[in-house]
Amino acid sequence: MKVHHLAKQNSILNKFLAELRDVVVQKDSMRFRRNIERIGEVLGYELSKDLNYSTKDITTPLGVKQTNLPTDNIVICSILRAGLPLHNGMLNYFDDVENAFISAYRHHPNNDEEFEIVVEYFAAPSIDGKTLLLVDPMLATGRSMVEVYEGIKKYGTPKEIIIVSVIGSEEGVEYVGKHFPKGTTLWIGDIDEKLNDKGYIVPGLGDAGDLAYGAKL
Ligand code: URA
Repeated sequence: MKVHHLAKQNSILNKFLAELRDVVVQKDSMRFRRNIERIGEVLGYELSKDLNYSTKDITTPLGVKQTNLPTDNIVICSILRAGLPLHNGMLNYFDDVENAFISAYRHHPNNDEEFEIVVEYFAAPSIDGKTLLLVDPMLATGRSMVEVYEGIKKYGTPKEIIIVSVIGSEEGVEYVGKHFPKGTTLWIGDIDEKLNDKGYIVPGLGDAGDLAYGAKL
């Protein structure tokens, strides 16, 4: 799997990531959501350089300009609920693409740290022959991403799969690399070193869903 790790290069993205992680700044949930959305915009712009293009004549009031435009039929698929601000950020740039939403959550059957991923709700168009963008802000263990991919296969076989994430763990990146087809690419803000016993990314940022939308029972 080809990994595009954006924080390896200095850019304004680092400021958005720092604000997400900062224990004081992240308490402002509107800023937190907007920073994830801004990172979605940056990731969308960066990955757009890797899409397929063809030349079209664009008529201006004064003439005709040949312009290379993306030709891929894109479906953006997000995992509820933490994926929503990242989805919106991507959609700000890919404004005319199709959308899919899937719910996935960690179920702790024995009320301890062991968990299974439950994938339940699907709202998806056909993904057959399309470019599938799988979007999840936190690529922790990588298990949700793989379960969602297994679930969405019933909607067709995509031409290409692109995974988009804000922060991942080295373990999560390795796990998706092993379980996704060859040719899958990952565009990610930053990759942290480890997971704690609860499967949270360290240093990470905490619980992205709770920070964006409030704690759940
Ligand atoms: N989900 C989160 O929101 N944060 C993590 O660190 C891992 C999974």
